[in-house]
Amino acid sequence: YRTLRIALLGGGTVGAQVARLLLDNGEELGSRIGASIELAGIAVRDLDKPRDVALPRELFTTRAEELILGADIVVELMGGIDPARELILKALNSGADVVTGNKLLLATHGAELFDAAEQVGAQLYYEAAVGGAIPIIRPLRDSLAGDSVTRILGIVNGTTNFILDRMDSAGEDLADALATATELGYAEADPTADIGGYDAAAKAALLASLAFHTNVPLEAVYREGIEDITKEQVDRAQAMGYVVKLLAICERIADPVTGEAGVSARVYPALVPRRHPLAAVHGVHNAVFVQAQAAGDLMFYGAGAGGLQTASAVLGDVVSAARRHVAGGPGVAESTHANLPALPVSAALTRY
Ligand code: NAP
Ligand code: HSE
Repeated sequence: YRTLRIALLGGGTVGAQVARLLLDNGEELGSRIGASIELAGIAVRDLDKPRDVALPRELFTTRAEELILGADIVVELMGGIDPARELILKALNSGADVVTGNKLLLATHGAELFDAAEQVGAQLYYEAAVGGAIPIIRPLRDSLAGDSVTRILGIVNGTTNFILDRMDSAGEDLADALATATELGYAEADPTADIGGYDAAAKAALLASLAFHTNVPLEAVYREGIEDITKEQVDRAQAMGYVVKLLAICERIADPVTGEAGVSARVYPALVPRRHPLAAVHGVHNAVFVQAQAAGDLMFYGAGAGGLQTASAVLGDVVSAARRHVAGGPGVAESTHANLPALPVSAALTRY
């Protein structure tokens, strides 16, 4: 058995849950992959900070750069641009695969990071960057790779959906609902990113780039946030049979003047009729509708934020990276059928 060392950068809301899952389930995951998975350490800012999730103290370090040396897989869950960007570049250049949930970093420096990965034959995985627990990056990148996506429409920020839902159903005001969302670990370290629509715009840039095989920079995404939405407006919408939702819309368009093909990506609060399926997306949930030429309409739904839920998406990427390492590294296809143990199958259950 080969030992795969995992360096975790960030032990906050998501990082702590990733560490817990690796410690609890690492042995089983490893046996499925054919490797031993070792959590080498967790880089944080403050070693004395009280932590909600019980984790061995000796795993924590403030020396992120040292931690990534010799790591096979680096998981970046610090957030922000720097030092996350520099550390990811260092990790890739040292031959590690990188897993990140950092949509802001990818939407602003994605080209640089993906290029760096390609140059050294490493992989940069980011399923957790959009839609929390919802698998949406892989379906767009892999399952729909042979199709032509024409439109993506959805709710991609859990915090604002939680807030708008509380304003609509519990008559709360924005500030109170935001305080609860922050307490629950849904909001970004700077919640202006959520409220101002920047987080959703970064996700729209990532989705549009992936779906339309192009580079949609963050600056090209039209953005309005929910900071000016009042309880009165939400009530008025309710009385008229609507609900206010922060939507992200990405579509292929033709320039109205030249007819030239292009892409539009935009984020803004919209009135959604109560009978529309998006009106039924409550709390921290996200929903993403994808329209593709051959596949038709697809819908992806689930928890859009939250430590444990997002950790699920991160672990999926860790397993993909680990399989690649076990299979031989760069250029080797990920195997999904290796080392499956034979479980007894109940004859009675197979009838159903
Ligand atoms: P968080 O709770 O603020 O945790 C950030 C962690 O990174 C903390 O442990 C912090 O250390 C550490 N850190 C920050 N700057 C550092 C530095 N310069 N050096 C060393 N450690 C540093 O953030 P989070 O909510 O887990 O989010 C992490 C990432 O995942 C972000 O990119 C976010 O956008 C993304 N994400 C979050 C969610 C969610 O639901 N929260 C969902 C999807 C994606 P201390 O603990 O010592 O402060
Ligand atoms: N703050 C983000 C949200 C976290 O509320 O959707 C998940 O990306």
